[in-house]
Amino acid sequence: MARVYQELEQVLPTLSKAVYSQPADVLAAPKVTVRPLVIKGRPCYQMETFKDNKAYHKNLEAEELLLLAERELEGRYRQVLLVSGRESAQYVLRQRGDYKKSSSSPSLPRPGGPESHNRTKEYILREGENIPALVDLGIFTPDFKIVRSRYDKYKQINRFIELVDQELKDYPGGEISILDFGCGKSYLTFILYYYFGVKRGLEARIIGYDLKADVVENCNRIAGKYGYDRLRFEKADVSCDLLSQEHIDMVVTLHACDTATDFALDYALRHGVKYIFSVPCCQHEINSSIHKGGQLDILLQHGIIRERVCALLTDSIRTAVLQSRGYEIDVIEFIDFEHSPKNIMLRARYTGKERRKSLEQALELKEKYGFSQKLLELQYPEKT
Ligand SMILES: C[S@@+](CC[C@H](N)C(=O)[O-])C[C@H]1O[C@@H](n2cnc3c(N)ncnc32)[C@H](O)[C@@H]1O
Repeated sequence: MARVYQELEQVLPTLSKAVYSQPADVLAAPKVTVRPLVIKGRPCYQMETFKDNKAYHKNLEAEELLLLAERELEGRYRQVLLVSGRESAQYVLRQRGDYKKSSSSPSLPRPGGPESHNRTKEYILREGENIPALVDLGIFTPDFKIVRSRYDKYKQINRFIELVDQELKDYPGGEISILDFGCGKSYLTFILYYYFGVKRGLEARIIGYDLKADVVENCNRIAGKYGYDRLRFEKADVSCDLLSQEHIDMVVTLHACDTATDFALDYALRHGVKYIFSVPCCQHEINSSIHKGGQLDILLQHGIIRERVCALLTDSIRTAVLQSRGYEIDVIEFIDFEHSPKNIMLRARYTGKERRKSLEQALELKEKYGFSQKLLELQYPEKT
């Protein structure tokens, strides 16, 4: 029997992240994330809550956090992840109200900690590199050191750029035009602009789309501040608004919520976009529409397994649709599970060779298990 708030108290001195997800209570926010932070030299913990696609922040002292964890979070979330210097541990809520530790793995060395000399990985974007927009976005300190609590984000964008770099090594000079769907605070968008414009010396033209007017406004302000005149952000709902009608070479998505990823992939297919880099997230659509119907029923019996199977099925169907439309795909582990559980990247390039076998299998599964999958419906309305 485990009480998560007591486990949290134990690991608090080396906590790097706590995530409460899958609310068991309709009034609870969909997700709560806690990270350590230093404000004006004082350590504290920042609690981030998502509601209606918007993030809200609250800074707490250690005692306040523990009290809140005990009184307001305990028992209200089906899953809790605690990542600390000791381990990365996952807890699952049991029916009787306590938690079961469902998995744990020893932590990897992190920067700033005693083991940081083990960190041998050479990133494309190095700590100390003069990337001022990263300071505005809170990833770098003013002297270009990584902000400790943003290390996961730094790792993610570096990995993204690494995978783009591998694919576009031989991209000829000149121009490149990119759309980022669901760009949010736009760490990746700014970095893509920096990577192509400054490091590769290309004429990069990038548009980031997001639903949230305030983040779009802030990103445009930062782009203006550094004279990034070919980088702009637009408030748009990518599922229904009119998006760029100009030639686009690359579409990217990084954790664009649920079906926003499908609208990005659909855009790419309809506009003959050559390169796609997509790291999907929260694939709820199949999970909420699938019913039992055959040999795969065993995979649908238990909530966690069902959720993971549905997420993998979603990405398998997206892959099949892309292949059927002439794209070659790599399905790549984007980042260690410890840094983000949303860790699959679909990397695609148009070759014109259309493969339909997996699509037929996907349609058969859809017929049998009755689920909805947005990309399949957008691309093959007559068959769905
Ligand atoms: C989890 S955030 C990821 C942000 C960013 N790509 C990153 O990785 O830091 C997902 C973003 O997608 C945006 N989003 C979700 N649905 C959208 C839609 N239909 N159209 C435009 N943006 C959308 C949300 O507003 C949110 O900022």
